[in-house]
Amino acid sequence: MVALKKGAKLAATESPGDTSDVKPSNVKGGIVLPQLEDESPRDMIRTSERSSIMPLYFVRSVHTFTAILLTAFISSVSAISAQAGTDSAWQQGPSDESVNRPEVSVLVVYYSVTGNTEKMAKSVAEGVKQVPGATVLIKRAEEVATDDLTNADAMVLGSPTYFGDMAGPMKSFIDDWYLKHKVRLSDKVGGAFSTGGGGTGGKEHVLHSLIIAMMNAGMIPVGPLVEEFGMPGVSALDPVNDTALEEAQALGKRVANVAQRLRAGSSSN
Ligand SMILES: Cc1cc2nc3c(=O)[nH]c(=O)nc-3n(C[C@H](O)[C@H](O)[C@H](O)COP(=O)(O)O)c2cc1C
Repeated sequence: MVALKKGAKLAATESPGDTSDVKPSNVKGGIVLPQLEDESPRDMIRTSERSSIMPLYFVRSVHTFTAILLTAFISSVSAISAQAGTDSAWQQGPSDESVNRPEVSVLVVYYSVTGNTEKMAKSVAEGVKQVPGATVLIKRAEEVATDDLTNADAMVLGSPTYFGDMAGPMKSFIDDWYLKHKVRLSDKVGGAFSTGGGGTGGKEHVLHSLIIAMMNAGMIPVGPLVEEFGMPGVSALDPVNDTALEEAQALGKRVANVAQRLRAGSSSN
């Protein structure tokens, strides 16, 4: 606690020549400066009592008011968390049962050298197959034909992280949407996944790059519904573990489900 010593203040403002109540350290070049010194809480109370009792009441009121506000805040946060916990459907669309299920085709495109991204691609494909009415075609980026793109209702892209970005062959494939294939991709559902060797090596950036490319082409990217606060896609660490593979499966399922909803919506118009 820091308090202004009363005597020193008076000496500085009222009687510059009188230094009797002032410590030597207060006097600088003949000028008496106010002395700041530490005071215990008990001294503070005495100081407050000497000047006025009101500041003490004020401090107490502020503390009480802050405590009430804090309690109210904690209660509302707990209520919201409890709601999110019991009702995780806040993130979800209509239940799978309510969906009209037209046939949809999902294209999974990946690039891989040591097999991690390929494993993820296969799990995405597994997820698609779990959706009745959905079929899947899985291809390496260098092997995709124009018809594969034309026939797809949805496309999921996966790339390893190379120097903080997507691998070159995946970028070339994306550039070819315009340079070579010239297929209209707008309103196709999209999804993305990536793998990387480092926790902060850029695998999430790769995910976002893939999503931005899809959005640029007018596609509608979606993420899997596996976490309370949502995921824009799936990015996995090398070597990919079971959790990442489950998330990849959830991504495939989600993409197929949303593609069906869009299909059902457009055919009923
Ligand atoms: C040329 C090259 C560059 C890489 N750069 C990164 C990087 O910047 N950040 C990272 O997290 N991992 C990096 N890695 C590791 C790979 O992203 C990781 O091992 C990935 O899972 C490999 O995918 P694959 O098994 O499907 O080929 C790099 C690997 C190679 C071969």
